[in-house]
Amino acid sequence: MTRIGILTSGGDCPGLNAVIRGAVLKGTEVHGQEFVGFLDGWRGLVEGDVIPLDRSRVRGLAQQGGTILGTSRFGPYQGPDGGAQNIQKTLGRLGIDAVIAIGGEGTAAASKRLFGEGIRIVGVPKTIDNDLSHTDYTFGFDTAVEIATVAIDRLRTTGNSHKRCMVLEVMGRHAGWIALHAGTAGGAHAILIPEHPESLEQICEWVTSVRDRGRSPMVVVAEGFTLPEMEEAYSTKGLDGFDRPRLGGIAEVLAPLIEKHTGVEARATVLGHIQRGGVPTAFDRVLATRLGMAVTDLVAEEDWGRMVALHGTDIARVDFDELAEPKYVPDERYQEMRILFG
Ligand code: F6P
Repeated sequence: MTRIGILTSGGDCPGLNAVIRGAVLKGTEVHGQEFVGFLDGWRGLVEGDVIPLDRSRVRGLAQQGGTILGTSRFGPYQGPDGGAQNIQKTLGRLGIDAVIAIGGEGTAAASKRLFGEGIRIVGVPKTIDNDLSHTDYTFGFDTAVEIATVAIDRLRTTGNSHKRCMVLEVMGRHAGWIALHAGTAGGAHAILIPEHPESLEQICEWVTSVRDRGRSPMVVVAEGFTLPEMEEAYSTKGLDGFDRPRLGGIAEVLAPLIEKHTGVEARATVLGHIQRGGVPTAFDRVLATRLGMAVTDLVAEEDWGRMVALHGTDIARVDFDELAEPKYVPDERYQEMRILFG
């Protein structure tokens, strides 16, 4: 019987538990596999910290947010017990034949390296940011968009009451998928994403044109967005006296600038980790379950060094390095919505 260790690594994501459940249910029922879970991501693998995973342990998990295994940003090459050789010994000691790593680009890159050094490993892509290539959607993204859209709806009523410009910051360090989708769904008057520079002047133009129509402007900004003016100004100590924001603080810089340059009272909301918490949407549960089930086929067929992915409505297989490539919002997708701004 093949004994498999599952780990969840990197930032958590709604749907992780559904992947674990899908894998354990199909793996045990169809392939006769046995499962254990590594605790806290790669740390559990490196330190041999495991818990048993059977049918009863995964009951009712599809709807549960977070990850029952815990996660961390610890890497497999970290610490005195890290590295492929040590990991191979640990796996041998625990009687584990193969590893399923559920994670984002960092996990895919680390998995690829481990695979190259002889570890029997396969993977499942995960990120709320939806910024991994060669998969159409990642689970967790739909949930994050839903939460951000509800936030826009709520901000709109309070913004309207006070005739304020509401600036909502959502996650997305390198790619603006959450901002684009939630902003579109919520009818934002401007969507600002890291891939596409917009000037403060342009943003203020959109805000004033909304105000001139008697409406309350709604701006959705991804955390990785910066104003072109900011890059230059920060190097000389702040734009209008502001320090460069920590990642996840751009709304708090933008709102006062908009207020100052347009005269429209503005408020910032940083949605933060609310986007990653709580129950996954039905779409994410289904996608995560299918990916979890499909990854056990990779193990059964000894198709090592590969990950499962979504192509259209089908579950496909891709190499680790393909998935590690970032997927940015293409210019035409941004321009498509940009004509509606203001
Ligand atoms: O990669 C997912 C993500 O949610 C990013 O959008 C965000 O920048 C980051 O994780 C936050 O990570 P942490 O939870 O470690 O602060």
